Amino acid sequence: MISSLCVFHLQKRCFFDTANIQKGTDMSFLQDLDVFSTKSEEISLANKTALVTGASAGIGLATCAWLAKEGVNLIMVARRHARLEAIKQELLAKFPNVTISIYAADITEKADIEKLKQKNAFHVDIFINNAGLALGRSPVADLIETDIDDMINTNVTAAFKLASYVAKYMADKRSGHIVNLGSISSYYTYDGGSVYCATKFAVRAFTCALRQEMFDKNVRVSLVSPGIVKTDFSLVRYKGDIKKANQVYDGIECLQPSDIARVILKTLKEPEHVTLDEVLVMPTVQAPVSSKIYKKQP
Ligand SMILES: NC(=O)c1ccc[n+]([C@@H]2O[C@H](COP(=O)([O-])OP(=O)(O)OC[C@H]3O[C@@H](n4cnc5c(N)ncnc54)[C@H](OP(=O)(O)O)[C@@H]3O)[C@@H](O)[C@H]2O)c1
Repeated sequence: MISSLCVFHLQKRCFFDTANIQKGTDMSFLQDLDVFSTKSEEISLANKTALVTGASAGIGLATCAWLAKEGVNLIMVARRHARLEAIKQELLAKFPNVTISIYAADITEKADIEKLKQKNAFHVDIFINNAGLALGRSPVADLIETDIDDMINTNVTAAFKLASYVAKYMADKRSGHIVNLGSISSYYTYDGGSVYCATKFAVRAFTCALRQEMFDKNVRVSLVSPGIVKTDFSLVRYKGDIKKANQVYDGIECLQPSDIARVILKTLKEPEHVTLDEVLVMPTVQAPVSSKIYKKQP
């Protein structure tokens, strides 16, 4: 009975398909697919303004450079003023058409955030919520309390507060795009990474909820989550121990900061009706494992 019904449906579909094809010779299966269009579907970012936290190094710095190339005006935030100033001069020499404001601010410091608010630094078209860090590889039993505080204060509390200020502005304006930096650690944990992973899981949960709040306000929200990227991340994690930091990347063809910047740019340049919701970007040589099993020795 079931199989004869299937045959009937199949025959019926084939009949309609044949009738459609025979109906007119101008029918095209490809005409709505834009594959032959010479015009790009990507939107222009020129003259938009982006706030980038963690702009003095790594992924944040690379993103600033790629945004400047697109003609995006920049508000760059990080703690190291001299680095920001030098980067600003170098960017302006290469991309003289953009404007760049730099703010030496610690995003965990209330007074610094207040100063950013007074400068309207959160009134932007694009927010790259990137500043973040890991500290140590200690197991939970040996965690250092100040490391817990610093990771949670930076990756969670500050990142959420900043997103909140920007979200308010964008929701009122009914436009904008917030890109939060997650991590492979937003999806998978590893031993010695408890607090860092917890902060990045939190960023992912926060981003999901924010997206649920913004989908009807014409504000796009994306989570870009890299695997291992060669930056100062490990130098910071191992508190300046260059040898330990370099060992992390030894023998690995890591992602480079520009790889993530290009993905962020792609996320931003998709047409307005397209949101790259969660993007997990891995180096080819890294694959996640979901669990490990302890086997008793015989
Ligand atoms: N590298 C990776 O393998 C990897 C993988 C997945 C996700 N991520 C994420 O990507 C983001 C960027 O990391 P990265 O690899 O580019 O690290 P990075 O090279 O160490 O850069 C971190 C940036 O954050 C800034 N920053 C840190 N704490 C800050 C604070 N309290 N206030 C203001 N700025 C602060 C630093 O600038 P100052 O020191 O000048 O303040 C620096 O510009 C982080 O959220 C990280 O969790 C990295």
